[in-house]
Amino acid sequence: MSYKAVKKVRVKVPASTANLGPGFDSLGMALNLYAWIDMAISEQTTIHLIGDQMNGIPTDKSNLIYKVAQMVFEQADVAHPELDIAMYSDIPLTRGLGSSASAIVGALAGANALIGNKLTQYELFQIASRLEKHPDNVGASLFGGIVVAFWDGEKAESIRIEPDDNLEVLVAIPAFQLSTEKARSVMPKQVAMKDAVFNLSHSSLLVAALSTGNLGMIRHAMKDALHQPYRAELIPGMKTLLEQAENHGALGVALSGAGPTMLALVDARSGQKEELEAFLKDTLAKEDIEAQTLWLKPSVEGVAAILLQEDDGDLLSFVKKEVLA
Ligand code: HSE
Repeated sequence: MSYKAVKKVRVKVPASTANLGPGFDSLGMALNLYAWIDMAISEQTTIHLIGDQMNGIPTDKSNLIYKVAQMVFEQADVAHPELDIAMYSDIPLTRGLGSSASAIVGALAGANALIGNKLTQYELFQIASRLEKHPDNVGASLFGGIVVAFWDGEKAESIRIEPDDNLEVLVAIPAFQLSTEKARSVMPKQVAMKDAVFNLSHSSLLVAALSTGNLGMIRHAMKDALHQPYRAELIPGMKTLLEQAENHGALGVALSGAGPTMLALVDARSGQKEELEAFLKDTLAKEDIEAQTLWLKPSVEGVAAILLQEDDGDLLSFVKKEVLA
């Protein structure tokens, strides 16, 4: 089969928050915090991870980005066993901001761009959901904006919602890591019908509120009975934040993904932004939890890959010049 393979691509992929309020495993949003991946077809594989937070991540062919790229080539029926890969990420690891989903989606988009986009976005979404199992994370990083999705074990479907221009996101990122596995282990295997109905109704309302720009409805809709009550024991201060952040200017508050990051949706026109940020920080500090707060916006753009020319610099020079400057 003929195709146009290009030499080198640079991918920019957004972070994501999943489980938005009641939307457990189904409602995600891309955030304007990014990872970059350079990928090139090569004669010998090299994997270069930039930045201290990637210490310990493998740089041989067991690397996730390398393995995911090979899945794209396999599905497209081409062979490129040797790749040069470089990655830099501003997305903190194991904090509930979709770092692994962004690595998967970035690798898919990079490998696909290298072979002239032989696979469709829908096909990439299927591979990503199969690997990550959380279509709300991978869907948001892939398509940008707000994504409503399911993964039924065989296929994933999604619809993207354009985020309201006035939607801002405040995250409080605790200094400690929490694995999704541990955060899932505290959840019950079965739930009561009343809790299922609670989430169904609140999630439907939240999707309608986000689709119609009814920001005032978020405070009623962004509540959850399926995972947050159980996970609160793993994150001291979380219960107080869930109960009180709205009194300090949040439109709604939720655990981001499986945590430990806490996320507040905020109206950009709010006069209570400083108060809210202080409330988040102080509440966690009272529990001896050091946390970094960041003001973010939904990332309207999903993953994007550009082709690099011979004279474009390497990823490290790009990061120094464009990202860290
Ligand atoms: N939806 C997954 C969970 C986490 O809550 O376990 C994905 O970030």
